[in-house]
Amino acid sequence: MNAIELDDVSLTLGGRRVLGGISFAIAAGRFVGVLGANGAGKTTLMRAILGLVAPSHGAIRVRGQPATRGNPAVGYMPQVLSAAPQGTRLSGWDFVASVANGHRLGLPILGREKRAEIGCALDLVGAGKLARRPLAEISGGERQRLLLAQTLIGRPQLLLLDEPLISLDPHHQQEVVELVKALQRELGITVLFSAHEINPLLGAIDQVLYLGNGQAALGAIDEVITAPVLSRLYGSAIDVIRVRGRIFVMSGSHDVEHEEHRHEAGHEHAAHEGHVDHV
Ligand SMILES: Nc1ncnc2c1ncn2[C@@H]1O[C@H](COP(=O)(O)OP(=O)(O)OP(=O)(O)O)[C@@H](O)[C@H]1O
Ligand SMILES: [Mg+2]
Repeated sequence: MNAIELDDVSLTLGGRRVLGGISFAIAAGRFVGVLGANGAGKTTLMRAILGLVAPSHGAIRVRGQPATRGNPAVGYMPQVLSAAPQGTRLSGWDFVASVANGHRLGLPILGREKRAEIGCALDLVGAGKLARRPLAEISGGERQRLLLAQTLIGRPQLLLLDEPLISLDPHHQQEVVELVKALQRELGITVLFSAHEINPLLGAIDQVLYLGNGQAALGAIDEVITAPVLSRLYGSAIDVIRVRGRIFVMSGSHDVEHEEHRHEAGHEHAAHEGHVDHV
């Protein structure tokens, strides 16, 4: 079965076409890296798969059914993270438990089964020790683990992780990628993982979905990260350079994956200027 199918899908926001007539199918159980410049449509695509943005044309199916809001088979880690609550005594456990009844606010009273599920999610992400720590005291990397544990509540078959590497140093980036890879293998789930650079994902992802110029390319890294495909998606001449196992996507002397992404956690929308067609 396919985890996700898009059939001639266009996504339009505020009268502006973000994606135009794209079609692809992602088989169940794949780990897919979602790449593209700021404003290319990575977040919008994830929100459409969640049923939060209706296509202006075409159809999106998730596990064979039309995309709908609140599908328990889909776990989502949004890109814009609210700051850790300061001055509260909320613990790591409370944070994960806050989504256990299908909402993010308030602390539900939980039965034994739900408590076991929360414990299981914390263990799966290696955050058992964070359960008792106050949220206000933990690091960004630790918080990322708790966010990942939240997405596992409800035992989803598909995880949509929007820029989980943002604001992490390279060491913690690698840890998060390896953790997600281990979860994807262990649970046999499908993962879409957006990032602004391919390198941290090399060795982990099965496929890359690259967005740009309102279009999309899905395939193996060597099929998609090529000069012809990326020149089409960036709308200008792109060179792909491989150095010691790393890949650089260059426009002239500029590394577009690095230089097009200048966001900091919490300020992503300041960077949204839709540069994709004139890089
Ligand atoms: N509510 C909205 N109304 C109008 N345009 C929007 C809205 N939300 C996003 N956009 C525009 O849609 C385009 C796609 O945005 P999106 O957030 O999906 O890009 P992205 O690939 O996730 O970018 P980033 O790498 O910065 O996270 C951008 O040009 C953005 O400015
Ligand atoms: Mg985004």
